[in-house]
Parts: sequence; C-alpha cells; structure tokens
Amino acid sequence: MAPSVSWVPGLLALALTLAALLALAPAASADSLQGQAPSAAAPANPASPRAATAPVYFPLLASNLRSASAPPGVGPFQGVGRRVTWEEDPRFGEVLTCSKDEESYVQIPGLQYGQSSGFAVALWAMLEPSGEGFLQYMYSHNGLDTDLAYGPNAVALYAPEQDHPNFGVVRAMVRDATDVIPDGDIPMFLDSNGCIADPTCTVPGYKSLFSPNGSWHLLALGTQPQGGKGFRLYVDGQLAASVSGQTDVESLGSVVTGGGPMNLTGNVTLCGRSDLDPLRFFTGSLAHLFIWNRSVTEEEMRQLFEAEPQPGLSG
Ligand SMILES: *[C@@H]1O[C@H](CO)[C@@H](O)[C@H](O)[C@H]1NC(C)=O
Ligand SMILES: *[C@@H]1O[C@H](CO)[C@@H](O)[C@H](O)[C@H]1NC(C)=O
Ligand SMILES: *[C@@H]1O[C@H](CO)[C@@H](O)[C@H](O)[C@H]1NC(C)=O
Ligand SMILES: *[C@@H]1O[C@H](CO)[C@@H](O)[C@H](O)[C@H]1NC(C)=O
Repeated sequence: MAPSVSWVPGLLALALTLAALLALAPAASADSLQGQAPSAAAPANPASPRAATAPVYFPLLASNLRSASAPPGVGPFQGVGRRVTWEEDPRFGEVLTCSKDEESYVQIPGLQYGQSSGFAVALWAMLEPSGEGFLQYMYSHNGLDTDLAYGPNAVALYAPEQDHPNFGVVRAMVRDATDVIPDGDIPMFLDSNGCIADPTCTVPGYKSLFSPNGSWHLLALGTQPQGGKGFRLYVDGQLAASVSGQTDVESLGSVVTGGGPMNLTGNVTLCGRSDLDPLRFFTGSLAHLFIWNRSVTEEEMRQLFEAEPQPGLSG
C-alpha cells in the first residue's frame, strides 16, 4: 500500500493535537515556512511551531526525509533512506523506524554546522532494547576523513545495547577540528546518567531510557552556551551531563573535547554510524530532528521538550 494513504490523516491528527494543546496560532507557523526554497514537489509541512524552533528542522514523518525548514540559501536538505519503515505512533504519527537486523539508515548530504564553534542537535527517540553488547547510533556526523574512534570532527548520539554493561544510558560524543585523542586515552563521552568518560561509572537508581512499552525521549547535544572547550548532553529538556575546560578529566584518562570550530563534511547519518558498521545500527524510532548553528541553553531545551503534548495529560 502506498504510504500516502495514511499520510493525510496522520498530519491532520498531529495538527489538531498541536492546535488543541498549544493554542497554536496558524499564522505564526505559516510565516515560519515562507523562508523555504520553493519546491512544488515537497508536500506541505505539517503546520507546526516546530519549524520555527530551530534553523534546520526535519519532521522525519510520513515517508518524508526532507527538511521542513532551513535557512535561505543553505537548505532545503533531502535525506535518503535505506530499508527504513514508517510506523504509526500514537504520539507523533507515522515515525521513522529503523532496525539493526535490517541495517536501516538515513543519510543527509550537504548539511554543515558548527564551523564557527557553536552548534546543537536535538531529536526525539524511542529506544527499543535489542542487540548484543555493542553501541547503537541514532545520530552520527563526521568529517569525510575522520578516524571514528580517535580523530577530529565527530558528533554522535548513541546508546549501549542490552548486553552492554552500560545499558540504559544514552551517550554523546563531540570532537572539534583540533581534537585528537592521544594513544591510550579514553575518547571523551558523556552519559545520560551524568557520568563522564567513565565506562565503569554507575548511578544507583538511574532510570533506563529504554522502555519496553515504548516511551519517547528528547535527546540533544551541543556546545557549552558560554563557549569554550567541552559539550553537553540534554535529556527531556534537562541538562544530563556536561564537560568543560573546568572539568578534571585527567584522573579518568581522557581529555576535554568539542567546543571549537568543526568541519563536518560527511553526511549526517541517522540510525547508524557514519561508516555504516553493521554492528552499530539502531533499533527503534526517531522523529523531529532540530539543528542549530549555535549553542542552546537548558532553558531552550526545556521549552522544546514542553512544547510537545505529553501523553496522558489529555486524560
Ligand atoms: C552520502 O549520502 C548519499 C545519499 O545516500 C550517498 O549517495 C553518498 O554515497 C554518501 N556519501 C558518503 C561519503 O557516504
Ligand atoms: C552554519 O554557519 C556557517 C557559517 O559559519 C554556514 O556556512 C553554514 O551553512 C551554516 N549551517 C546552517 C545549517 O545554517
Ligand atoms: C574540511 O574538510 C575537507 C575534507 O573533508 C577539506 O577539503 C577542507 O579543506 C576542510 N576545511 C577546513 C576549514 O579545514
Ligand atoms: C509501562 O508498562 C508498565 C506495566 O504495564 C507500567 O507500570 C508503566 O507505567 C509503563 N510505562 C510507561 C512509560 O508507560
């Protein structure tokens, strides 16, 4: 069956839900779409305040991998999906769904940010416990010649799998154009339980982000709002972990990375690592990708999180 059959009702439901919960002013969201490059073939954007939230926004809904907003002269961007499916979700509609077994992924060419230091990336993810003891990548972006473990120019949002000792957290990595991990050091990463570059760190009582009954989380990473070395990981609108020039990481055997200008010449990759390593594909669903060419504050992240209707609140 053609995907377009269930597309319109999905968007209508989404628009109605948003209008009801946000008292959405249609004029405002229409305005925010006018900066798009004209494209007769592009389906109408789901009338959405999301398009105005970040300079670059992809709904990732209803078989559509095109950006719904992008700065004039920079976008629009068109993603290319391989073996992805679109599954009806009660919260977001027909969402991008990936499977490690199927090796599904999306590549978005031509999208660059962070050339003058600051950037942030946010997306909604529904994580499904699966896989072995490896790492599943939801978002990966590098320079064309980046050494993925130790080289400069790396942005990644990923999660240890079910049989991994760190299962339950989401992990973020950022390296700018000057960052090289010295031989023998642990590459800098942040975990959603607050741990910094420490694979042995556990936090008693930490609630796993994987849910067998499927709940969505807003995951985001970006540079420090005050500038300087380091980066941050946000979960559901709250700062989850942070590393900066002030953090003492020497004792951990790591170095502070991120925060400087980046040169992300490769494709943005969703649901897999940039090199398409078969062990690092993602199982679960993604929706609503936001990209900023500057850092964002915790307050902005909180607003982004709270702008989405929370399940259960409508009774
Ligand atoms: C980038 O993505 C496009 C579209 O999928 C693909 O044709 C191209 O080979 C990719 N480039 C790299 C370097 O992976
Ligand atoms: C980010 O800013 C740089 C200039 O610093 C520009 O080249 C690039 O296109 C911008 N990216 C986006 C997504 O706006
Ligand atoms: C960015 O990387 C590309 C190769 O991927 C290189 O050609 C270009 O010179 C680099 N730009 C900067 C500013 O380092
Ligand atoms: C998941 O299901 C369990 C058991 O039915 C329930 O107790 C829990 O609240 C559910 N969690 C979410 C996030 O819906």
